[in-house]
Parts: sequence; C-alpha cells; structure tokens
Amino acid sequence: MALSVVVLAAGQGTRMRSEYPKVLHPVGGRPMLGHVLDAARELGAQRIVVVHGHGGEQVREAFADAPDLIWAEQRERLGTGHACQIGLGRLTEPDEVLILYGDVPLVRATTLAPLLEHTAAGRIGLLTAELAEPTGYGRILRDSAGRVRGIVEEKDADAAQRRITEVNTGLLAAPGAVLHGLLARVGNHNSQGEYYLTDIVALAADEGFEVGAVPAADAAECEGINDRAQLARVERRYRGRQVAQLMAQGVTFCDPERVDIRGHIEAGRDVIIDVGVVLEGTITLGDGARVGPYSVLRDVTLGPGAHIDSHSVLEGAVLEAQASAGPFARLRPGTRLAAGAKVGNFVETKNATLGTASKVNHLSYVGDTVMGREVNIGAGTITCNYDGANKHQTRIGDRAFIGSDTQLVAPVTIGEGATIGAGSTITRDAPAETLTLSRNKQTSVTNWKRPAKDQSRPTRSRDEDQR
Ligand code: UD1
Ligand code: CA
Repeated sequence: MALSVVVLAAGQGTRMRSEYPKVLHPVGGRPMLGHVLDAARELGAQRIVVVHGHGGEQVREAFADAPDLIWAEQRERLGTGHACQIGLGRLTEPDEVLILYGDVPLVRATTLAPLLEHTAAGRIGLLTAELAEPTGYGRILRDSAGRVRGIVEEKDADAAQRRITEVNTGLLAAPGAVLHGLLARVGNHNSQGEYYLTDIVALAADEGFEVGAVPAADAAECEGINDRAQLARVERRYRGRQVAQLMAQGVTFCDPERVDIRGHIEAGRDVIIDVGVVLEGTITLGDGARVGPYSVLRDVTLGPGAHIDSHSVLEGAVLEAQASAGPFARLRPGTRLAAGAKVGNFVETKNATLGTASKVNHLSYVGDTVMGREVNIGAGTITCNYDGANKHQTRIGDRAFIGSDTQLVAPVTIGEGATIGAGSTITRDAPAETLTLSRNKQTSVTNWKRPAKDQSRPTRSRDEDQR
C-alpha cells in the first residue's frame, strides 16, 4: 500500500509568544517540523502533505530544499479535523493515510509503524499514551469490553473522564477512503466550536468499525510543544537520545547532562567530550579526539587524537591527526591544521593552513595564510591581511621561524627556513635560510635620570586628602 502522510502544522502557537511560526522553533538545531518529516520519510511515505497556516510563507521558505513536500494552506483555523480535510484534498485517492503533528517532533518511525499494521487490516490505528499527568490531552474512552469508543477533549470532559490517564497522542493512521468518509461527518458542536479530528473515532466505533489503540512504549516521545517550557523539555530529551547513541558508539561524556548537541555528530571510539561543550552543524570526531570544557564547535572535523582545550570557539575548521587548539583559541572558517600542528591561547585564525607540526602558540592573528611544515610563529605575530579594501595572502615556507611581535604585511612570502627577528614589520618578501629583521637600533642614554617628585611644592595634609 502506498503511504501518504499529512502533517498538521497550521496552528498559531499562541502560547509560544513568538514572532515565528511554532513549527520553525528549533529542536536539536533544526526546525521541529524537520524531525517530523524525517519520521515520515523513514516510514517510506510516498507523499507528504504539510498543512500550514500562520506564517506559511516562512515555513515554506525554511523547507525550500525539500521538493518532496506538498503544501496545503488552511486559511481559517477551524480545528484539526478541518486541517486534515484540507490536507486530504491535495491527495487523489490515497490508500493509507498517517496523520502527524508538526509540534510533536520526537516521535519515532518505529513507534508509528504499528499504526500502519492496523490500516493494512482496514482499521484505524490510534497512538495512545499512558500519562500520570494527563491534563490538557484528549482522553480515550473505552467500553466495558475494553474496545475504544471515542475520544473526549479535556475541555469537553466531565470529572470522571478527566481521571482517565490513557490519552490521545493525536497521531493516527487510517485507510484513505475511510478517513475521507468519516471527516465529512465531523461537526463542530463542542466547547471550542472546532472540527475535531478526534471525533472520527466515535463515528467509526458507532458504525462497528474497529479502532486499534497502539500504546506508545515511551510516552515522552509523544509530547507536543505548545510553550517554551515544553520546548526546553523536548530539547533535553532529544539531546539525551543523541548522547545515549554516541555513548553506545564509544564516546565518553564527562557529564551527559552538561553538553548541547545541535546538529549531526559522527564519532569514533574513545572520544572524550568534557562539560559545557556545544556541538553544532556537522561534526566529525576521529578516534581518541578530545574536546575540553566550555568549547563551542560548529562544522568541525577532528582527526584521530586531535584535541581542543577548554574555552575554545571553532567554526568551519579541520584538525588532522594529533593537531590541537586552545585553551582560549578561536578558529574561524577555512582553518586547517595538518597533523600535529598546534594553536595555543588567544590565537585567532581564519582561512589559514598550518602545515605538519607547525605552531602558533600565543596571542596571534593568522588570516589568509598558507604555512608549510614545522613553522614556529612567535607570540604577538599578526598577519596584516587587509589593506582596508582587499584581503591579501601570506605564504610562509617550511621551518620558518617568526620572532615575537612581528607584523607580516600581506601580500608577502617568507622563504623556507627563514628567520624573522622579533619586533619586525615585514613588508617585502623574506629570503629562505636568512635572518631578516626591521628594527630601530637600540640605544642607551648613560647620563639620563628618572624624573623625581618635586620636593619644593607643599605636601597636602591627610585631611585634605580625605576630602
Ligand atoms: C490535540 C487533540 C488531543 C490530543 C492532543 C495531543 C484534537 C481535537 N485534539 O489537542 O486529543 O490529546 O492534540 O497533542 O485533535 N492544527 C492545524 N489546524 C487547526 C488546528 C490545529 O493545523 O485548525 C494543528 C496544530 O498546528 C498542531 C496540531 O494540529 O500541530 C494539534 O493542534 P492543537 O491545537 O495543538 O491540539 P491540542 O489542543 O493539543
Ligand atoms: Ca498541541
């Protein structure tokens, strides 16, 4: 059977108190809707309809790179049943329809798959959850034989119904024709004056049509996001899931609760991630790589045994085997450290390649630079790459030694094995295997005296001092 998925995402998300559509708020660094779409794709959905409303243009733009999506606009927000009808309207004779919510991002394909077994047998499959604290959710009504009879919304429920702890997650699957027929009969005579999708369950049961309730093994993954507190809770769970997976692959987290993962991480064995680390974008960590406390990495690759010391910020950087950076290093996009290269504290790099075993240990700026192997850059060295209009390149040959407090005014080339004397301003190419320096001659003034305090002026009294 061909599966069609309808994702309801037209809600205003009023309780988020946000300028942005709710489904664009990130979970794990990506819009929450993206996670729902992943689950739909993993189930092999042939067609995915997203019902949007409020902020629709922004939502469509955020997913402009997903040509597989069919967009359906719900102009008036008349309820989940109405939204479903609009979604179905974009599908011609769907066999099997799965309804997902754009604000329930943690639900897994493996949790949803059993619903499809019910539709395959011509039934409605309903994902339910057992909650100790069911407030706010629709409750599942069963008859004395335990058959599902309907769903009552919190706002429409009486006191006895509110004590029911089996709730509707909102996610369900049904044969397309059945769903179509039932939705057409849903009315809006309820406390919210809305067309409730949930009403199809009672309509089906009244006709003797079987409804299969599938209890979610993990109720937490069915939590919807309506406000910022729920967003934070879902984020924490998502992170817990990522961390657990990485630990299973052989990664040590010094404290799994004190790390943030907002992207996709590939990690080898014996990787160690210390506390307060933020990982964003695409991160690759080779065997034995280590990330020190309170470092932020975005789109970074660490080779085997590479190591970031504490309080470093890296973006778009590649460190090959055994290379290291930090503490307090800032590696900006286009930085590449070859094997064993080292960047130390208070060093900023950008668009810079350090060859094998080259070192920039302290207080430097290295930008638009290509450096050979075993180069040593002394403290306080600055590549002056910008003339106010254009960027220029600095090239440094193998084994060059740059003395401290040197400015290399680009474009400039330092030859292999060249030595630059400390405190130099280098504006022309420096030849290989030669000492180059630009420095004023040092002089000493022998009969010079340090200024002393003038004794002839009256000293101020203590009293005056205190005024
Ligand atoms: C809904 C269910 C409730 C269930 C709960 C689980 C109904 C009537 N109630 O309640 O039984 O326990 O989810 O989280 O279905 N939406 C639209 N258009 C609309 C209305 C809603 O697209 O006109 C979308 C929302 O964006 C959201 C989803 O449908 O993604 C659910 O809507 P929401 O208003 O959050 O329903 P709940 O009150 O949470
Ligand atoms: Ca909701």
